[in-house]
Amino acid sequence: MSANPVRLAVMGAGLIGRRHIEHILAEPMAALQSVIDPSAEAQALAAERGWRWQPGFDGAGPDKPDGVIVATPNAMHVEHGLTAIASGIPVLIEKPLADSVEGAEKLVAAAEKAGVPLAVGHHRRHNPIIARAKARIAAGELGPLVAVHGFFWIAKPDDYFNVTWRRESGAGPILINLIHEIDLIRHLCGEIAEVSAIASNQQRGFAVEDSAAVMMRFANGALGTFTLSDAIPSPWSWELTSAENPAYAATGEAYLMIGGREASLSLPRLELWQHKPVKSWWQPMIGERESFPPVDPLRAQITQFCRVIRDGEAPLVPGREGLESLRVIEAIRQAAATGQSVRLA
Ligand SMILES: NC(=O)c1ccc[n+]([C@@H]2O[C@H](COP(=O)([O-])OP(=O)(O)OC[C@H]3O[C@@H](n4cnc5c(N)ncnc54)[C@H](O)[C@@H]3O)[C@@H](O)[C@H]2O)c1
Repeated sequence: MSANPVRLAVMGAGLIGRRHIEHILAEPMAALQSVIDPSAEAQALAAERGWRWQPGFDGAGPDKPDGVIVATPNAMHVEHGLTAIASGIPVLIEKPLADSVEGAEKLVAAAEKAGVPLAVGHHRRHNPIIARAKARIAAGELGPLVAVHGFFWIAKPDDYFNVTWRRESGAGPILINLIHEIDLIRHLCGEIAEVSAIASNQQRGFAVEDSAAVMMRFANGALGTFTLSDAIPSPWSWELTSAENPAYAATGEAYLMIGGREASLSLPRLELWQHKPVKSWWQPMIGERESFPPVDPLRAQITQFCRVIRDGEAPLVPGREGLESLRVIEAIRQAAATGQSVRLA
């Protein structure tokens, strides 16, 4: 390992930016170069903790960071990502990569043209549970995939919506939360070819939706459903089952079920269910569970970002993957708005 730490700047010291800062401070390969955030709150926090603080970032100046993490509101990702790319600085952009497919395409094109690494914060792919599930599906343990079903049923506290942009159209659970699920489902089950959806804002009454139901057809022929709401107290969500973030009390339940012709797999329990000795509903159904110690994939994401910068490793979740997941989300939003199913190329 090089003696020099990878110097990372964090743009946006809000909810998630502060977690990135903690992980950078705990990562031996990394050092916090600066916190970039114009708010008085961020300035005060930086002064209190002794972090270097800047109100803005233009990519110029002699003391450039080795990498930038963009954790600003969605609508700023393109501008902030393009600034880093134009300065030749590798960038990890929080999900969603952008607030529109066009914006995400711009970012991916600029990064590819400049040869600057662009990673997206779909951090769950850094979780060993997901890597193991992917390997088991790829090894054919489930057989050809038939169906997937998942939940994001969660109760966001009312004060979460005190931040204006979280109440506005485009900042709801479809873009903020479902994008994690869609990215994971694409990663595990393959490309999504067609979607239909219904969304509702009936529970909270904001411009943005609070609940939605989605149907999916995969390119490999499998079918999927996913229901989401930020207004339901429930034990069934990645957040409350994966134990990846100590801020959430883990329930030990499963939230995503993937079914193949040979077996079914539940996540994050990694429980593989099959009939033995013969595949028939008259035979006993045996569930075998693999357990993993909880890992915070946000930390693993920082470690990998350091290797991208220092060793030239490819990002585990490159910008293009963030773009493809965003395309599915846009198709879901379009399907929900029009009531028509949408096919993806
Ligand atoms: N990966 C995850 O699980 C996860 C979780 C939460 C949020 N996010 C994403 O992270 C992003 C931020 O979300 P949040 O919940 O932390 O928001 P937040 O509102 O808590 O924080 C945003 C921060 O950006 C700062 N900011 C505003 N304008 C800026 C500018 N021009 N330059 C620098 N900083 C600026 C604000 O002052 C604020 O501190 C969003 O894209 C969100 O989707 C990802």
